[in-house]
This record gives sequence, C-alpha cells and structure tokens, in this order.
Amino acid sequence: MLCTQASCFFNAKKSVLLLSLLHHFNSSLAYSLKNCTIKYSLNPLADVFVDCGNCGLVTVPVDIPRDVTSATLLNNLLEKINREDFSNLSKLRFLDLHLNKISHVDNGAFIQLGALTSLYMSFNKLTNLTANLFQGLANLTMLDLTYNNIGFIHTSAFQFLTSLLTVILDNNQLQKITDIQPVLELPQILSIIDNRLSLSLSLSLVISSYKMEKFSITTPTFPHLETIDLSHFCRGPVLKWEIPDKSLLKNITRLYFGDVSIHFGDIRNVLQSLDSLRHLTLNNMERWINQGLLATVCKIPTLQRLDLSWSTIINVSAKLVTCSQLSELDLSMTQTIELSKDSIRSMKRLRKLNVEQNLLSKVPDDIRRLSFLETLILSDNYISELGCDDFINTTHLTELYLDSNNITKLDKCVFEHLNYLNVLDVSDNLLSTLGDTFKLGPKMLTFLDLSRNLLPVFEKGDFQGLGSLKYLNVSNNIVRLKDKAFDGLNNLESLRISLLSKWYYSFRELQGLKNLTIIFSGAAHSKHFKQSNLHDFEVCDGLKSLKVFTVIFSGNQCDFPFPALKQTIQSMTHLETFTAFNIYISALDRDTFQFNTQLKNLTIRHTNLSHLDPVLFLPIANLQVLDLSNSELKSLDFLAQAGLSALRCLILKDNHITVINETVFQSLPALTYLDLDNNPFTCDCFNAGFIRWVLNNKQTQAVNAYQYTCSFPVAHQGRKLLDFNYDACLMNISFLFFISSTCLVVGILLSSFTFHFLRWQFAYTFKLFQAFLYDKRNMKKKGAPHQFDAFVSYNVHDEAWVYREMLPVLEGEQGWRLCLHHRDFQPGKPIMENITDAIYDSRKTICVISRHYLQSEWCSREIQMASFRLFDEQKDVLILLFLEEIPTQQLSPYYRMRKTVKRRTYLSWPQAGQHRVFWQNVRRALETGDDSNLLIILI
Ligand SMILES: *[C@@H]1O[C@H](CO)[C@@H](O)[C@H](O)[C@H]1NC(C)=O
Ligand SMILES: *[C@@H]1O[C@H](CO)[C@@H](O)[C@H](O)[C@H]1NC(C)=O
Ligand SMILES: *[C@@H]1O[C@H](CO)[C@@H](O)[C@H](O)[C@H]1NC(C)=O
Ligand SMILES: *[C@@H]1O[C@H](CO)[C@@H](O)[C@H](O)[C@H]1NC(C)=O
Ligand SMILES: *[C@@H]1O[C@H](CO)[C@@H](O)[C@H](O)[C@H]1NC(C)=O
Ligand SMILES: *[C@@H]1O[C@H](CO)[C@@H](O)[C@H](O)[C@H]1NC(C)=O
Repeated sequence: MLCTQASCFFNAKKSVLLLSLLHHFNSSLAYSLKNCTIKYSLNPLADVFVDCGNCGLVTVPVDIPRDVTSATLLNNLLEKINREDFSNLSKLRFLDLHLNKISHVDNGAFIQLGALTSLYMSFNKLTNLTANLFQGLANLTMLDLTYNNIGFIHTSAFQFLTSLLTVILDNNQLQKITDIQPVLELPQILSIIDNRLSLSLSLSLVISSYKMEKFSITTPTFPHLETIDLSHFCRGPVLKWEIPDKSLLKNITRLYFGDVSIHFGDIRNVLQSLDSLRHLTLNNMERWINQGLLATVCKIPTLQRLDLSWSTIINVSAKLVTCSQLSELDLSMTQTIELSKDSIRSMKRLRKLNVEQNLLSKVPDDIRRLSFLETLILSDNYISELGCDDFINTTHLTELYLDSNNITKLDKCVFEHLNYLNVLDVSDNLLSTLGDTFKLGPKMLTFLDLSRNLLPVFEKGDFQGLGSLKYLNVSNNIVRLKDKAFDGLNNLESLRISLLSKWYYSFRELQGLKNLTIIFSGAAHSKHFKQSNLHDFEVCDGLKSLKVFTVIFSGNQCDFPFPALKQTIQSMTHLETFTAFNIYISALDRDTFQFNTQLKNLTIRHTNLSHLDPVLFLPIANLQVLDLSNSELKSLDFLAQAGLSALRCLILKDNHITVINETVFQSLPALTYLDLDNNPFTCDCFNAGFIRWVLNNKQTQAVNAYQYTCSFPVAHQGRKLLDFNYDACLMNISFLFFISSTCLVVGILLSSFTFHFLRWQFAYTFKLFQAFLYDKRNMKKKGAPHQFDAFVSYNVHDEAWVYREMLPVLEGEQGWRLCLHHRDFQPGKPIMENITDAIYDSRKTICVISRHYLQSEWCSREIQMASFRLFDEQKDVLILLFLEEIPTQQLSPYYRMRKTVKRRTYLSWPQAGQHRVFWQNVRRALETGDDSNLLIILI
C-alpha cells in the first residue's frame, strides 16, 4: 500500500555549495521510514517535511526523524496522542493532525514542541481542552480546532500559548460565553469562533452556526478586529443582529458572508453601519442581492473590492450602476449572459474585473470605457470572436485572460492598443491561424499562452513583434515549424511546443532560450519523413544557453521521433536538466552526454534501458537527480561503474529489478533518497544484504521501502520484502566468510612462517607422507619373520668403508645377516619397492650417515621409510652410524633425526679411539629386542 506519492523536487537555482553542506545540517534525517516519506529537497537548509498522511495509521509512527520541521499525519485513524508521541521533535514548526479520530491528548503531549508555530487539529473528536493540554507550545501562533466536539475549555488551557495569534474554534459544542472566556482573555487574538452559542453575546465578534440566533456586539472587546467571516456554515435559523453602537464596527474592513440566513433589514443595517469596510464578499446571497442589497452596498464610500461570485444575479448590470467607487469586482460564476450597456461604465476606478465562468458570448461593450482596467478575466465563457474595438480604450491592461472560450481567430487590431499588456492567455480556444496578430506587438508582452488551440503551422515572423516575450506556450497544437518562425523573440527564455515528429524544425534564432519543452505527436509523420532529407533534422542547434530541456513523445514509440537528438543534446553545453519521456527506443549512446558536464538532473522514462552502458554517466559526474523509471532495468549494477559520486536522488520505479547488491551504494556516497517502488523483488538470500542496508543505513531513505512486495519466489508472492528474515542468510554467509577468511589468514601466516623457518621440515613431512603410503602397502608383511638382522642404508661414496670396515666385523665376527642394496636387492624390481621390502624384511635399519648420505635422495628416502616404521610400529628399528662429524643444523631436513640426535649422547667413528668399543656398541644395538623403546644411535 502506498501512503503518499513522493518525488524529488529539484531546485536548479540552489547552489552547489549548499548541497555539499547537506551532511552537516541534516545528517540524521534521511533513512527509510515505515509509513512516512521524507520529502526530498535539494536544499539542505530547507524544511524537513515528513508526510505520514492518508495512511490508515492508528498510532503516531515512532520513526519520525528528529530534524523534522513539518509533519503531516492528516487523514489517519489516530484516536489518542500519547505523551511520548512527539517527544524529541524539538525542531517541529508545523504539525497537521486534521481528519483523525483524536478524542484524547495526554497532558504534556506537546511539551517538547517549543518551536511549533502551527497546529492543525480540525475534524477530530476532542471534547475537553484540559489545563495542561497545550503545555510547552510557547511559540504557537496558529491553532485550528474546527469541527471537534469541544464543549469545555479549562480556564488555563490557553495560558501556555503566549504567542497565539489565531485560534479557530468553528463548529464545536461551546454553549455559553463563559465557555470561550479563556480565549477572549488572550490579548492579541483574532478569534473566529463559530459555535452553537445561543446566548446573546455582549462582548465580541462571534460568528454563528445553525444554532446561533443572535449576533451582538455591545462593547469594544477587539479594537483591532478587522475581519468578520460568516462564510463557512450552512443555512440555519435566521440570525438576529444586535449592534446598537455603530462605532463598534468602525474598524471592520473585511466582511465575508456566505449562505447566511439573515433578515434583509438586519444585513442592510449592518452594511450601513460599516463605514470603513473595504472588502465585501457576498457568496451565494442572491436573495438579498436581487432584493436590492447592492444599492446599500454601493453607498459604502470606502468599499473597494466587491465579490459577488456564486450568486445568480438577475440583471446584475443595472444593480451595479452606482458602484463607481470599486476598484475590484468579481462576478465569476454568476450566470451572467451579458453586461448590459452602461452597467459598469461608471466604474472609472475599476482596476480588476473578473467575469470568468459565465455565459458571455462577446466581450462586454462597457469594458471599453474602463480605461484604468489593469486585469481582465474573461476565462471560461462562450466568446467566439474578438473585435478590433473590444480593448480599444483599456490601454492600461496588463493581464488579459481569454482562455477556455470559442475564439476562432485573432486579428492584429485586437491587441493593438494594449501597450502595457504583460500577460495574455488565449489557451484552450479554437484558433486555427495567428495571422498578423503578433507581428507588431504587444511590445511589452512577456507571457503568452496559445496552447490547446488548432494552430497548424508557424510561419516566418509570426511572433516578430514580441521582443519582450519571455514565456511562450504553444503546446497542444499540431504544429509544423517554418524556417525562422521564432524570429524576433530575442528575449524568450521558456518555450513549450508540440511538434509533428520528423518534420523540419529549427530553433536557431532562440539564442537566449533557457527552458525548452518539445512534445512530439506521432501523427502524420511517416509520409513527410520519406519526402524530406535527413539533413533537415539539424534541429535545435544554437541552443547553447539552454538549461532545461524536456522532450516527450506522445505517439507510438517504435518510431524514434528525434533522429538528431544526440547531436542536439551535445550542443547544449549548459544543460542542467534533461527529461525524456518515451523518446528512446533503446539505451542511449555512451557519448550522448559527453559535453553536458553541467547536467544535474536527468530523467529518462518509458524507454528500454536494459542494455545501459555505465560509460554514459562518466562525463556527468555532477548529476544529483537521476530518474530512470519505467525503463526495463533489471539491475543496479550499472551504477557501480557510473561514477555518480554527487548523486543524491535516485528514482527507479516501475522497472524489472529483482535483486540488488547493496555494495552498489558504495559508489553513491551522496545518495539520500532512493525510490524503487514497484519492482519485482526476489525475497531470498540474494537480497539479504540490500534489506539489511535499507533497515540500517543512516543516510539514504528508501522511500516506501516497507511497502515493497515480493514477486519471487512464488511462495512468498505478495509478502513484504522487508519482512523477509534475512538473518539466517547473513549468518551463513558471514560464518562462511569468517571461516574461510580465518583459514586463509591462518594458512598464509602458517605457510609463510613454515617457508621461512621450517621449509626443510615441511619438505620432510611431505616425504614422510610419501613414505606413509608405501608403508601402508607393506602392512600385510608385518607379522612375518625377518629375513635379515639389519638393512644397511649407505651412500655409494661410503661403500668402501661398509665393505672394508663394517661387513668383516658385523657379518664375519658377530655373525649378523645384513642386507646391502648392491648385493641383496632384487634386480628388475622398482627401487622404491626394494628399499621398502628391505626395511620391512630386516629387524633393524642401520643408516651409515655421512655428508654424502644426507645429500642423496635415495638415502634420505630410506631413512624416512625406516623412521616411519619406527613411529608406526613403535619399535626400535633405526641405528644411526655417523661416519663423520656433522653439525646439527645440517641435519635439519631430517627433523626427527635431528631431534633424536640432540637428545642422546653418542659416539662417532672418527672420535672413537678404539673401534672395538664402537663395534661392541653396534652389537648391543642389534641385539636389543623388537619391543624396546630405545632408539640406538651409534656414531
Ligand atoms: C505501517 O508500516 C508497517 C511496516 O511496514 C506495516 O506493517 C503497517 O501495515 C503500516 N501501516 C499502515 C497503516 O500502512
Ligand atoms: C520561539 O520563537 C523565537 C522567535 O522566532 C525563537 O527565537 C525561539 O528559538 C523559538 N523557541 C523555540 C523553542 O524554538
Ligand atoms: C475535562 O477534563 C478535566 C481533566 O480531565 C476534568 O477534570 C473535567 O471534569 C473535564 N470537563 C468536562 C466538562 O468534561
Ligand atoms: C480602531 O482601531 C484603532 C487603532 O487601531 C483604535 O484606537 C480604536 O479604538 C478602534 N476602534 C474601535 C471602535 O474598535
Ligand atoms: C474611448 O474613450 C474615449 C475618451 O474617453 C471616448 O471618447 C471613446 O468613445 C471611447 N471609445 C469607445 C469605443 O468607447
Ligand atoms: C463553443 O465551442 C464548442 C466546441 O467547439 C461547441 O460545442 C459550442 O457549441 C460552442 N459554443 C458556442 C456558444 O459557440
């Protein structure tokens, strides 16, 4: 449900400086509200206006932002104002609560609203204005309580309203003069009290409703009272007037009567006593007018303005003959068919005459005599012809309204004498030709409206005489433009025109034009198009100073109406606002705006922009308002590369956007207003980030976001997007993210650490793993008896020592069966397998360790395999014989070995003075049983 229609208001005149200050002034105001809209204004100092009206609200929304200066809650279902409803709104100046069902207001509910100046609570159900109701409203000047059921006003109800100027209590249940005493005691009040008072009032101005029987003023309670307004109530019992002292009405200058029942004699008496009256309104009072009341009215010497509208007056002209003092006369909606001769001719001072919405078929004759007339409103009559004499003597006329008549043609003589004419409205007539009308003047004309006529063509020089014209509206004619049609319009700033599409048109002569609206109609274009050459569409070149350009196509869009549009736009280097409705068939060329660096406001609607190239926006980085509604957009991704860092207002209503990646808003740092109404959102985890952003960001208001509905998946159709439980998605996502990023970080740390400090160990571990694989293959052999006592692992460089020193002692003297790979390995078997078999077929593995051994890959594999068996079987299988001194750091690749070596005391071959002791130690090591946990190292 949409509560209010919202849109961006763009004020082109506000300076960029002000815009850049927005964050300082209104930093907390813009975020998405549940049922309200913050109206967008580009002026950061402007009022913050929150609209919560027409929304069916039963409570005051809690999310009204603190900076709000104006708030409307009109036409809701509020029944009660609670103490906390308006707390913290210390900047609020205007509050509209009218058309609710409020019957109770908590004491002190307005106590925080010290800045409030206007409070509108009409059309509610208040019955009792209690003592502390208005506490805190020290700055309130306007209080409207019309149409409640107020029957009681506490004597101190108004004591806090020290600035009050106007209180309106019309149509309540106040019965006695004491009821309104609290109001009457306020010093500066102009009060208009329209109630069921039936007592005769001795004090004041009290304007009655149907129950009031007497209107009486007997003492000068309101010395400054200027206005009595009796225009807002229905016919009731006849009102009795009692104003014995005429001088009490001396200061009344305005008197409004509307539909009041009053005795003719009474009203005549009143009018006779008003000798300072300047403005009299008698709406719907034809009974007295037709009885001759105007004779009295015309005798009020001070009367200047007389408004007789809505009264059907018989022969009004005759009745006004003596009203020569008037300067303003309103006869609109009086069913006047004609103003007879000599009726108003005596009104020599008349400056403004309004006869709109009558039945006049020609300009009244008497108007010629009104030589001081400045404003003449003849709108909405049946005038079909203008004669040369019609305005011959009204030479002071500055504004002439002839709109909504049946005028078929104009003649040059008609306006010939109107040298001061400023505004001329001839819209909505039947004009089919301009003729020479504007070839010579009126010279002072600045505003001309010729829209909604039947003008088919503008010829060269048609507006030649209008050198002062600033605003010209010729839209809603079916117009073709001839060359130089606008010659002479040297000061034209604003032009609105309807054109046949694909016809030749040029605006070259309008050098100063700032605002151009072209409305293309599709009619009759194709035939002409084929006949003419493309170079005829050189179009609006020369519009260098144009700031606002609007182009609209009202026909069938498949015919692109404006082939030269791109070149036209490119020539408008000062363009600030560009609006195109139903103009583009597909996405705009990427270089369309390359020369429009001043562009601030771009609206393209009713177009297929599904293939929009973000490069389009790069030259217009100052853009502040972008509206691409109804343009078949499927995603916001284009914004990520669009570079719109100044964009503040984005409207993408009525598109096909289903999923929004919230990271796109990082590329829109200035965005405060976002409207995505009527898009087919998908309510799943893909939108989780967007939903969270809408709810939590403190800068951008997503307008009506709480009303966005799900279109997908089908099971969720019709539900609210923001009701989608996104927590679950975010938990998974963030948890996964946490885990993966943690693993990544730890992994990187570990691997770099490992690489720097433990790279050898790392390599070793890898090899160990390889060994593990081989080990697994040999599991089956585990239980079998060993073929050898020891497998001797050595490097080929140490073979001499093995054969010369080791074999004679261990095999010869001590009788061990040794496995030597040169001697005992099976030919043809893969070497790795031979090593593995040798190790597992031997009780022990003797490693003859030298520098060469450590450098040999095969040897190291052997030691790994053996050491793996060592750990795997928890058996002492490894005997290390060190042939030479090796610094322990050189053992680093063999991490475990190094650790072992460091832990144990050992002897090495070179150190052993007596080799006999060395060999005895080896024998002891070979003799140890399988289950010993001792690792024997002999060196
Ligand atoms: C106000 O907004 C809430 C949240 O979206 C919604 O549930 C509620 O229906 C709205 N109230 C009205 C009256 O629109
Ligand atoms: C009341 O109005 C005065 C004058 O306009 C202003 O200076 C003052 O700040 C206002 N009080 C509050 C509480 O806004
Ligand atoms: C109005 O309200 C006050 C305070 O609630 C109460 O004392 C008083 O009786 C009421 N008056 C009427 C006429 O209802
Ligand atoms: C009319 O106004 C003047 C000053 O505005 C005042 O002095 C005078 O008393 C008023 N007259 C009446 C009858 O209220
Ligand atoms: C125009 O005014 C002059 C002087 O007041 C008067 O003589 C003349 O008759 C008027 N013209 C018409 C057409 O009423
Ligand atoms: C005025 O023009 C309308 C529309 O063309 C026509 O229906 C109407 O009869 C005309 N009225 C007069 C009084 O000429």
